[in-house]
Parts: sequence; C-alpha cells; structure tokens
Amino acid sequence: MNKDFDETPAFNTISVADDGWAINILDQTFLPHDQVTKRLTKASEGEEAISSMRVRGAPLIGVTAAYTIALAMHEDTGDQNLELTANMLIKSRPTAVNLAWAVDQMVKLLQPLEYGMRCVAAYQYAGKMAEADIATNRAIGANGLTLLEKIKKTKKKGEPINVLTHCNAGALATVGWGTATAPLYLAHRLGLNLHVWVDETRPRNQGASLTAWELQQNHVPHTVISDNAGGYLMQNGKVDICITGSDRTSSEGDVANKIGTYLKALAAHDNNIPFFVALPSSTIDWCIADGVKDIPIEKRDPEEVVWISGKTAGGKTERIRIVPQGTLAENYAFDVTPARLISGLITERGIARPSYGGLTALFPECKI
Ligand code: MRU
Repeated sequence: MNKDFDETPAFNTISVADDGWAINILDQTFLPHDQVTKRLTKASEGEEAISSMRVRGAPLIGVTAAYTIALAMHEDTGDQNLELTANMLIKSRPTAVNLAWAVDQMVKLLQPLEYGMRCVAAYQYAGKMAEADIATNRAIGANGLTLLEKIKKTKKKGEPINVLTHCNAGALATVGWGTATAPLYLAHRLGLNLHVWVDETRPRNQGASLTAWELQQNHVPHTVISDNAGGYLMQNGKVDICITGSDRTSSEGDVANKIGTYLKALAAHDNNIPFFVALPSSTIDWCIADGVKDIPIEKRDPEEVVWISGKTAGGKTERIRIVPQGTLAENYAFDVTPARLISGLITERGIARPSYGGLTALFPECKI
C-alpha cells in the first residue's frame, strides 16, 4: 500500500477573493456540466446562495453562513445588522444544524467587540472555520478508513470493496475532503480497490450530478444507480458497507440526512449490511434527544419534484416538466434514520456507538 499520497483535499468550494473581502463560491447549480465561480459581495447574496443551494451540504452551508456574516460586517458593523443577518441566515435552511452553530459562534465572537474591530475579526474567524472543516474531515477520513481496511481483508484478490452512498456528503458539501467521501478518497489514494454505488438522490439529484462528478474528477470508480436500486443490490451481495453524511445528529444518535437515507438504512438492516454515518461534531445537536420527533425537516418548493433540468445533446440547458399539470407534489428534503438502524457514527475523534453514551464517550465535554 502506498503511504505517500497526495494530501490536497479535492476542490475549492469557497474562498476569499483576491480583493480580500468578496467571497468566491463554486456555484453547484451548474454542476456537473459547467464549473462556474460566483462572486458574493453582499450578505443578501450569501443568503441567496444558501437557500437556492448554490452551496449546500451541512458543513459548507455553515462556513458560507460565517463568511456571509463577514460580508454583512463589511457592509455595516452595527448590532442591528449583525442580528438581522444572523436571523435571516438561520431561517435559510432549517435542518442542517451546522448553519445555526456557525452563526451562533460568529455572533458570540463579534457581539462583545467594538464596531471598528468586527469586520477584520469576522473574516479571520470565518477563515478559521473553513480551515477547521478541512482538518475535521481529514480526521473523519482516517477513522472511516479503518472500516474499509477491515472489509478489504475479507475480499478475494481483485474484488473491489463496494460502498453505497446517498446524496452528496462529498468534498462539495464541505470545504474539502467531504465527510462520507473522506474515507473513500483516502482509501483510493492509498491504493485500495474501491467501487462506489452512487444513489441519484431525487429530486435535486445531488448523487447523480455532484457525487458522480467529484468522484470522476478524483478517478474513484463509481456507478450511479436510481434511488430505488439500493435494496436490490444489498439483497444480491453487491454492497459491503453504506456510508452517508448527516445534517443533524441527535444526542441519542438519530441522524437527519437527505430524504431517502432512512429507506437505505432499513434495507441495510434487513440484509445485515453495516450502515455508517460520517459527521463532524458540529452536526450533533445536544439539545435534541429524539431525532425522529424533534429534528425540524425542511420542506422545499414542490416545483423541484415537478420539474427536472439537464443538458440536451445539443448542449442547451433545459428544464422539463415530468408530472401532469395540476397534480399535487410535496418536497420533504430530509428524513431521520433512528439510531437503532445505524452501525456507528464516524466522527473526527473516532467511531461512536449511535447513543448518548457512545457520543459522550468521545465528547465528554458535551455531557448534559
Ligand atoms: O440538501 P442538501 O444538498 O444540502 O443535503 C445534503 C445532505 O443531506 C448531506 O448528506 C449532508 O449535508 C451531509 S454533507 C457532508
């Protein structure tokens, strides 16, 4: 196994522009067809980028929210602007707790400072959050890698380790490495024979459009499957392990993640396939014990279910309707997988049992 591998995380999803204050994001609404960088210059543009999913994924929306507060401080360092921006951001995407966590951290840091110091401090702190995200995900990668190395020992020569993932919990959902993908990138760079089943993830197709794109860019073997194929693959011995991300994890280990994650966990449970969730501790909501009951689930515009967009053979981006005119649609963006269906939570400090005891063994400072 090659131990000297490239430590550069995949992609630059967000950065401060050369002028030192505007924020550049990789606009994910154009992927996989075009790589477009969007320049954000106002807090309202940061909010729009989050709510319309130009940036998405729990860790990345947290860091984008922090930079949006920096943009707000560039406009006006007053208390009222800080409070208005914080409230606007917290409402923009309700399920992923990283966003509220990042906003809360920024407000706590900036509020006690004199107005004249707030802008510089906001950029510095948002930058630190971005750096911390990369380091956290790298640590998640190393911890998750141990699971893949164990599976490798059970494989015959030439047989790949088959991993199933849902949505995009990849580098594109973070500042670098991803959460669910971090162990995959490390394993691939270390020379493990890996193959990833990528759920397409309707209605916004984060799997088909984003996970497939980033795995392709990083030369990780993968295959896109329709959302409903996972159960069949599991029944037929074609999946060794499932690894997904999390938008919010309850203190008892329940996991809110992209809609459809729960169904994959049920299928994995029925087929004795390990189902792991990779998450930074900023995703744990210590104030919620029963995730199924208490985690707020974002409902998005039903138009996202009714219409689908893509590029035609002629290279034109088109949006087409796939549901009869007049038919009602609903768009629940997340579901909650109960802890009992989860084999373990891969965090930056190690792999936790999905329970209060398991999580607080790794994060004793969070014991209530
Ligand atoms: O609606 P999205 O695309 O923001 O949802 C993203 C997910 O559900 C991810 O799996 C989750 O945020 C974990 S990202 C490391």
